[in-house]
Amino acid sequence: MSFDKRQVVYQIYPKSFKDTTGNGIGDLGGIIAKLPYLAELGVDVIWLNPFYPSPQRDNGYDVSDYKAVNPLFGTMADFEKLSQQAKEYGIEIMLDMVLNHCSTDHEWFQKALAGDRFYQDFFILRDEPTDWQSKFGGNAWTPFGDTGKYYLHLFDVTQADLNWRNPHVREELFKVVNFWRSKGVKGFRFDVINLIGKDEVLKDNPNFDGKPEYTDRPINHTYLQMLNKATFGDDEMGITVGEMSFTDIPNCVQYSNPSSHELDMVFNFHHLKVDYDNGQKWTRKPFDFIELKNLFHTWGEGMSQGGGWNALFWNNHDQPRALNRFIDVEHFRNEGATMLAASIHLSRGTPYIYMGEEIGMLDPDYDSMTDYADVESLNAYQDLLAAGKSPAEAFAIIKAKSRDNSRTPMQWDSSPNAGFSDTAPWLKVGKSYPQINVEKEKEGKIFPFYQKLIRLRKAMPIIAEGAYRAAYQDSDRVYAFERLFGDDRLLVINNFFGQNVTLNLSEQYRTGEILLSNYADTVLDEKITLKPYQTLAILAAQN
Ligand code: GLC
Repeated sequence: MSFDKRQVVYQIYPKSFKDTTGNGIGDLGGIIAKLPYLAELGVDVIWLNPFYPSPQRDNGYDVSDYKAVNPLFGTMADFEKLSQQAKEYGIEIMLDMVLNHCSTDHEWFQKALAGDRFYQDFFILRDEPTDWQSKFGGNAWTPFGDTGKYYLHLFDVTQADLNWRNPHVREELFKVVNFWRSKGVKGFRFDVINLIGKDEVLKDNPNFDGKPEYTDRPINHTYLQMLNKATFGDDEMGITVGEMSFTDIPNCVQYSNPSSHELDMVFNFHHLKVDYDNGQKWTRKPFDFIELKNLFHTWGEGMSQGGGWNALFWNNHDQPRALNRFIDVEHFRNEGATMLAASIHLSRGTPYIYMGEEIGMLDPDYDSMTDYADVESLNAYQDLLAAGKSPAEAFAIIKAKSRDNSRTPMQWDSSPNAGFSDTAPWLKVGKSYPQINVEKEKEGKIFPFYQKLIRLRKAMPIIAEGAYRAAYQDSDRVYAFERLFGDDRLLVINNFFGQNVTLNLSEQYRTGEILLSNYADTVLDEKITLKPYQTLAILAAQN
């Protein structure tokens, strides 16, 4: 299978995109209604977070039926209509496949609990649990009924890990992927897919050094090869991406190098941990620019040299908005948003835009814990209190780090509920919507800049396919890289700070041509001064 490197993916959190039924929850009809908007932006693929039947304990990542549509979001007929209409706009659909675990409401788990041996082997049951912690807090093992055994859940207690060592489990999960392929779906995002391969003998994790025991096991690659072969491997065109938790470059090269027949590309999260204190998420710390830049360089070059492929992103449904983390938004929202965009859209890999990013949406600025819905945030708040933080300190951390920051309703216009719904939404709208919304921003600076970046990638092979090489590596102010394609060279410099920075420019770029910038008046010379959060892309002069 091959994928098109000119493509740009747009992520939609269906629950918060557009409500057309008046229940305060976004739906498939809402996505259909907004297809013209997506086409205007110019994106090629839309990734939809899970909309399958689910108790919604983890907003759909707790799937109770993999082959149906949750009535909250619509019907299968709505999905078919969406799929068909999207194609008419030249947009493909990418579905979220949650194959590491299923909801404890799923019939497999229910049958297992009722004593069915066949289904008990669908899960990871042990007499003696390991010391593993759930990623959402607490123990990762919970008693399995009254059997005396424990079942593994790396996430919430209602998300039971599936036993991929059992061939029947793999067969069932491959059927899920093929079910959606039979409906014409050609794109898949595989949730925490580097956790599916558990070792036969599970080991404790006493010297936790960031990468838990159950991550990137060698057998994980085998399972991905099997998945590839049994499902999308022979599709002529399509796009697959794996979400990789705590991963590394050698594994990601292998996951995404075409010769391994696993996936097209990978998400990693190292760059979004540079504002974690001591590697811990539920802390507050200004971001470490040097660490960020070095990570981009090592990953950019490592993946480029190894023939792997990155999914590039600043935002998703699990992250606070990048603008609030990396940019002085009070003074430079437009400059910061466009610089962040260019820093990945001109890089090597496939760019992903998370809904609202293209209009510079911000964190919601909630006032109270009662505004939050996310299970991880609610657990973390209790853990912070238990660890001795005051309610005010704990709240400040949740406010900065909660996943709900990105899950607030899309801000379409300045009418009540931001034009998302006629009724109170399931999660409160962000405070910024009267100023920051699609209607206003289409005439602003950020939306048109995204349109331009998407057009450039389509038009220029050096952007879509060029190799990656670090530039200005010693600078503690700019993140810069070159793209190389045949004899062509493109230099991209991004000022990550709210102050001017002056750099020397080499001959080939001094005499080159400005391809793109978020400031109008830059003159190429021996020395150039980049303004606050300026991005500047220069095509080298041809010899
Ligand atoms: C992934 C999803 C996240 C979910 C978790 C468990 O990290 O992106 O939203 O909670 O997996 O499925």
